[in-house]
Amino acid sequence: MGVTRDFFIALSKNQLLNSGAKKWGLKLGAGKMVAGTDIDSVMKSVKELNSVRISATIDNLGEFVYSREEATAAKESILNTIEAIQKHGVNAHMSIKLTQIGLDIDYDFTLENIREIAEAAAKYDIFINLDMEDYAHLQQTLDILDALRIEYPNVGTVIQAYLYRSEKDLEHLKDVRLRLVKGAYKEIPDVSLQSKQDIDENFLKLIKLRLLGKAFTSVATHDHNVINEVKKFVEDNDIPHDRFEFQMLYGFRTEMQKDLAAEGFAFTTYVPFGQDWYAYFMRRLAERPQNINLALRGMVSK
Ligand code: FDA
Repeated sequence: MGVTRDFFIALSKNQLLNSGAKKWGLKLGAGKMVAGTDIDSVMKSVKELNSVRISATIDNLGEFVYSREEATAAKESILNTIEAIQKHGVNAHMSIKLTQIGLDIDYDFTLENIREIAEAAAKYDIFINLDMEDYAHLQQTLDILDALRIEYPNVGTVIQAYLYRSEKDLEHLKDVRLRLVKGAYKEIPDVSLQSKQDIDENFLKLIKLRLLGKAFTSVATHDHNVINEVKKFVEDNDIPHDRFEFQMLYGFRTEMQKDLAAEGFAFTTYVPFGQDWYAYFMRRLAERPQNINLALRGMVSK
């Protein structure tokens, strides 16, 4: 399992394959996990989700951006997607990776880009989530959030339960809208828990701490054990349903997604789209090699 995970994480970081895949169109069954390569297809998918009371967080896929031209082009695509959310009147917000808009190039340039995005989104009351990437980018992501959050309360981020520092970060961000996840990258034991059991325990601990606070929380997981425990916890503690939501990725456990929404829980699906699907897809295979079955079904059903 460890070896398979490492294998797919290594593939996700391969820049040659990442740039090659942009020209392939959606291949290898990625169409089951990625809602198309253009805005029209993602809007269609979001409307379908909205029709069953599910909201969307749209990820205009892209990472490993090392030139200002690419980062500026990514920013423009994100701005276009924000305009499309408004124009189509869909219930959706955006998830953004800061490396996509320049974090590996220059901090101030990235801050300028995300400020422009936050401003455009604030105009339409659209929330912007800064996805959390690997540990090497964490502090800068939090610094950027701190720089933005007074002016733009419509920006939040993600806390990863596998990191030792997350409980402290949670306290620092107690007034900010946050998504809580287990964590998707490969981090060293110096900074992160390694066993599934330890990560699961910390995940539940952080979720409970957070749900007792005031700010809005997204519990992002496909793990039914965690979901069931959260359901029990909110009931036992009278936590109002408008204080939290569940989130899952597009294409995963779709029946469970609909059931949770139908039960009256706020629910948001993370909907990735675009040509830059390769690293996202490989990380999903790393998390759960059984996802290959989903991908294979995608390959044969095309
Ligand atoms: P995990 O993969 O640990 O599975 C637990 C159990 O749940 C499995 O053993 C199985 O029983 C069941 N299960 C899981 N998937 C199933 C399926 N498809 N079908 C049937 N059973 C299944 N990470 C990050 O580092 N930064 C980020 O910004 C984000 N953002 C993000 C947004 C959203 C909406 C989600 C759902 C996830 C993320 N992640 C993330 C990824 C996250 O950190 C984590 O890697 C994955 O969600 C996998 O962990 P899970 O909690 O889903 O359960």
